[in-house]
Amino acid sequence: MIATILPTPADLSITPRDRRFGREAAAPRLWHGGRVEATAIYNALSTTFPAGEAYFVESVRAFRKGTPPKLAEEIKAFTTQEAIHSREHDAFNKRAERAGYDLSKLEARVQQRLAVSRARPQIVNVGATMALEHFTAILAHQLLKDPRHLEGADREAADLWRWHSVEEIEHKGVAYDTWLYATRDWPRWKRWKVKAKVMLYVTRNFVVDRTAGSLELMRQDGVTGLRAWTLLLWYLWVRPGMFRKIAGAWLKFFLPGFHPWNEDDRYLLRSYEASAADVPEPVRKVRRAV
Ligand SMILES: [Fe+2]
Ligand SMILES: [Fe+2]
Repeated sequence: MIATILPTPADLSITPRDRRFGREAAAPRLWHGGRVEATAIYNALSTTFPAGEAYFVESVRAFRKGTPPKLAEEIKAFTTQEAIHSREHDAFNKRAERAGYDLSKLEARVQQRLAVSRARPQIVNVGATMALEHFTAILAHQLLKDPRHLEGADREAADLWRWHSVEEIEHKGVAYDTWLYATRDWPRWKRWKVKAKVMLYVTRNFVVDRTAGSLELMRQDGVTGLRAWTLLLWYLWVRPGMFRKIAGAWLKFFLPGFHPWNEDDRYLLRSYEASAADVPEPVRKVRRAV
């Protein structure tokens, strides 16, 4: 039985926190410490979430029927979390537009990629979701672990990214376990081959598209050419160096026996909850928001 072999912690709780961010005051256009490249990278990433996370939900839910009860419950909580993330990133993106950015090119690219994926069999879509959820979870891990990633950022915006990161870690095993369930009759070799191919494909698209998106937003701030590339690459690979720091965790995905919960990083969630206790607005927890 699949339930007996999954390393997902038995006491894991996936708790949607129905919070709203940045509805009151307008954040500055360069909300990330006044830095063009940092603002562009996070804005470009946020542009993918409303449509991207709706796609994750639809891909996972396609396999929900017949899953073991614990996984079925986790899929429900995952769905609720992603729906709230989509709502908050949609609001975040609208603020970026009000600050003067044109996100239409970036959004069109996301829709184009999703259309290509949706035309493929459902198993490919749950595979792509499983790979991208690992990607999201390792970004989230890094973001919570090292405060330098959000240093100087507008407080509400930083809160949004931390909150999202916490929930990405909580549900990091859901798409993976759904994939394991959906491919339970596959030979190990085939499963590894498909998952490795899918990961390489989505990583390539992620890096190409987010780079193009970030450069486009930097162009809208008047930074182009060599200067734009240098700022971007320095930020991603050197300081704070997100890509450099997640490289090892990304590679682990290809190891036999990989599972997102081979690393239990719930200590990051506990320290978030402890610091959230200082935030004036209470962290409301809901079980079913959708
Ligand atoms: Fe999310
Ligand atoms: Fe997610």
